[in-house]
Amino acid sequence: MLAPAAEPGHPAPMIDLNRLREDTPGAACRIHLNNAGAALMPRPVLDRMLRHLNREALIGGYEAAAEAEEQHRAVYASVARLIGASPEEIALTENATAAWQMGFYAQSFRPGDRILTARAEYAANYVALLQVARRSGAVIEVIPDDPHGVLDPEALERMIDGRVRLIAITWVPTNGGLVNPAAEVGRIARRHGIPYLLDACQAVGQMRVDVADLGCDMLSATGRKFLRGPRGTGFLYVRRAFLDGLHPAMIDHFGAPWTSVDGYDLRADARRFETWESNHAAQLGLGAAIDYALEIGIPQIEQRCRHLSARMRSLLRDVPGLRLHDLGTDPASIVTFSLGGHDPAAVKAHLAKGGINVSVSAPSSTLLDALARDLPAVIRASPHYYNTDDEVDALVGACRSLQ
Ligand SMILES: Cc1ncc(COP(=O)(O)O)c(C=O)c1O
Repeated sequence: MLAPAAEPGHPAPMIDLNRLREDTPGAACRIHLNNAGAALMPRPVLDRMLRHLNREALIGGYEAAAEAEEQHRAVYASVARLIGASPEEIALTENATAAWQMGFYAQSFRPGDRILTARAEYAANYVALLQVARRSGAVIEVIPDDPHGVLDPEALERMIDGRVRLIAITWVPTNGGLVNPAAEVGRIARRHGIPYLLDACQAVGQMRVDVADLGCDMLSATGRKFLRGPRGTGFLYVRRAFLDGLHPAMIDHFGAPWTSVDGYDLRADARRFETWESNHAAQLGLGAAIDYALEIGIPQIEQRCRHLSARMRSLLRDVPGLRLHDLGTDPASIVTFSLGGHDPAAVKAHLAKGGINVSVSAPSSTLLDALARDLPAVIRASPHYYNTDDEVDALVGACRSLQ
């Protein structure tokens, strides 16, 4: 099957693909289209972690940490550079959920307070909203979508009143390429002085993220997905001015040093949301992943992700019996579909036999959206810049062979 070389509006960008693939040991073993799950780490990330682990084994964990103190501090600067923040506004966490929870559970709610969220909200966030709503008497309300299934900022504007206590939305959901208008939401939140918590878990690493443009007070993200960092890493951004009034729901003697028999001092920076112990090797790996992405260039990464996912959608559309489920007019690099009467888990297993990694997104991971659209479990293919056109075509061919 002949595939178009590039999709209109998403030309193949200039990028040294050979070098990037040589840097990616896994690229020789698999066609990895599960970057929304966990991407393949590039060699510099792996090397950075192994180097630190070796030092831990050779000289001791605390001693290795002392030796790498400056590089560890530089991880905060790397995260800050990636999202246009300052290092004091960053806390490192073990995943996006922990980051989001730290931001969310630091808010307080009274009966009748309103929490506005998106239909595509991720399960981990939504169950926390439910718990806090139950405990506090706050209510959760879903911001309506426009006809393309994208969160509608005008509808949000109409919902605002003095009882809205938090806007918490997901930018790019786990179950498709939808890109919600996070910056427009931020402008509304700012205008009305409403705290704004943004889940950027699937956005960081595949598109430009600038917290000043986004206007968010808090932003959560993970290391292992489009950033290509190790598992068990993530970060929380908290805007400087917002941080001052924010008390973590849980503290330890790192975030809040014990200064007198009956007192402690909260750290002045966002690291008040951290605890004392952490995985230094993984965090150094996260820093290496971010530096690696910045060196390639986020605009180049974004353009290539758009190219590959547009190509994938355009070719999958022609596979008999295949239905795409992505929402929005200019979707990101998460492509979801179902294939005739095939069980998605069986399709995933079939693809895995051919060396192609994809995942399955269950309705329960984005339940509101799944119910609204009567969505089954969907097959999720998420290409990243280091994938090739041929790999995309191999996925399409394998889907075709099932029909
Ligand atoms: C949109 C979204 N938010 C949050 C998360 C949670 O991220 P983590 O597993 O790093 O906690 C995910 C994970 O898939 C996600 O897709």
